[in-house]
Amino acid sequence: MISEIKNICCIGAGYVGGPTMSVIADKCPEILVNVVDINKDRINAWNSSNLDNLPIYEPGLDKIVERCRNKNLFFSSRIEECIAISDIVFISVNTPTKKKGIGAGQASDLKWVEVCARQVAKEALGHTIVVEKSTLPVKTAEVIKSILEAAQSESINIENPPSFEVLSNPEFLSEGSAIKDLEQPDRVLIGGEKKEAIEALSNIYRRWVPEEKILHTNIWSSELAKLTANAFLAQRISSINSIGALCEATGADVREVSRAIGTDTRIGSKFLDAGPGFGGSCFKKDILNLVYLSKHFGLNEVSQFWEGVVSLNTWHQHRISKLIIKNLFGTVTGKKIYILGFSFKANTNDTRESAAITICKDLLEEGATLSIHDPKVEISQIKKDLESHLKASVKGEEIENLSQEGKWFFCNNIYDGFKDSDAVVVLTEWEEYSKINWNKVSKVMRKPAWVFDARSILCIKDIKKVNLNFWRIGDGS
Ligand code: NAD
Ligand code: UGA
Repeated sequence: MISEIKNICCIGAGYVGGPTMSVIADKCPEILVNVVDINKDRINAWNSSNLDNLPIYEPGLDKIVERCRNKNLFFSSRIEECIAISDIVFISVNTPTKKKGIGAGQASDLKWVEVCARQVAKEALGHTIVVEKSTLPVKTAEVIKSILEAAQSESINIENPPSFEVLSNPEFLSEGSAIKDLEQPDRVLIGGEKKEAIEALSNIYRRWVPEEKILHTNIWSSELAKLTANAFLAQRISSINSIGALCEATGADVREVSRAIGTDTRIGSKFLDAGPGFGGSCFKKDILNLVYLSKHFGLNEVSQFWEGVVSLNTWHQHRISKLIIKNLFGTVTGKKIYILGFSFKANTNDTRESAAITICKDLLEEGATLSIHDPKVEISQIKKDLESHLKASVKGEEIENLSQEGKWFFCNNIYDGFKDSDAVVVLTEWEEYSKINWNKVSKVMRKPAWVFDARSILCIKDIKKVNLNFWRIGDGS
């Protein structure tokens, strides 16, 4: 039994592990926090003396890392050693959708989680609390428990065999506002069976989270609540994007509709911004997981209901590509289109499942020449995202052989991509895009030129004043 946690190990130094552990270290200076990862490049980046080179961009994170790193917060690949000295191990590794085998395309791939459980089983000493921080299908704790129990029964240390308790403590942070979300969470959810373990973990959060925001449930409710939260949020976006399409067809304005329904306190105003479709590593993956689970339990209508949220999102992203092409006289072959924003939302360098990938891919396949700007995404990341998609779409042929495909270029400076462009497409809501001098840039665009604002961040008046054609998401007026 552990009354007070002194050592924490977090396996996985990604978008969740890195910020979450940094905030814990900051709030609990007396606890030693080790964040470990098999990816040595990522660990080196976390240890970089230049804080601009941290592997993820998250406002406020650099300051916390600066305060705590090498004091009570350490990033390393010393996985075995760090597990052995820990009272509590957080598993915060990736759980992407399975690419092959049973459940391919829907179920979560738990191979990384299983590897972690086996490693904890092998290395842990004394009593260890194992926390599921990754988002996992309902009943995964059972798998982790069986692996840990097997280690317990096989231990040669008969007098003091290792012992374990498994808790679920899903993470609800959003990228771009992770530090604020971690410092002032709406709630902290802890699912588990044994009071002592639940209390030990709660005591960590109690240092900065008010008691009434720390919720305790059984372990299965906690696992399911995480999937459900993401499914509900994503559902709101598909709902408003479906209404946006209807607004465009009928003369209504989706921003007015959002405002009108959002003032109903039962509906609420958040997550009602129409956009190019939700991206990010989790919404699609977690809903597909829910779809798979529902099917597994024979609940076909439930699975179809949630599958609809993902299909609408995919349809919506392609709808935007199609309407760009339609407005550019039905063809973009040889035309120059300037893409503003590649990350899946503002204030992050994460591009996973970004709508920009689908839309750029569609336009490249139609032969467009794209200039792409993003203030935080690296050119190497865009290359990876577009190459893998183009390759996938032509069944493994090399991109260099695709002479019929368009080309793309990266723009370091926001003002570099306007010259000779037929259209500008805003796909991420970076603040600097709302400050573009349209008077200046319109002079160098090829006329008739278009501006497509999929994020509703541009000033219509400024654009219309300089005789550019303008399209805005969900605007039928
Ligand atoms: P990520 O891919 O950024 O990071 C995961 C890290 O785990 C990688 O660096 C990888 O190298 C490491 N890893 C994998 N197997 C390992 C092993 N055996 N030993 C050591 N390191 C290992 O993923 P992420 O975005 O941080 O997501 C992690 C989990 O948290 C997922 O289940 C995700 O669904 C969930 N989640 C993510 C977010 C988010 O905003 N990204 C928010 C809430 C929950
Ligand atoms: C989301 C959830 O908000 C987090 O609570 C959760 O922890 C996380 O997923 C996860 O499990 O990974 P995140 O994906 O980082 O966080 O970002 P969101 O702010 O939720 O945005 C997701 C996508 O929806 C983005 O592409 C965003 O642009 C889009 N979105 C969001 C809209 O199109 N309209 C909105 O009104 C809100």
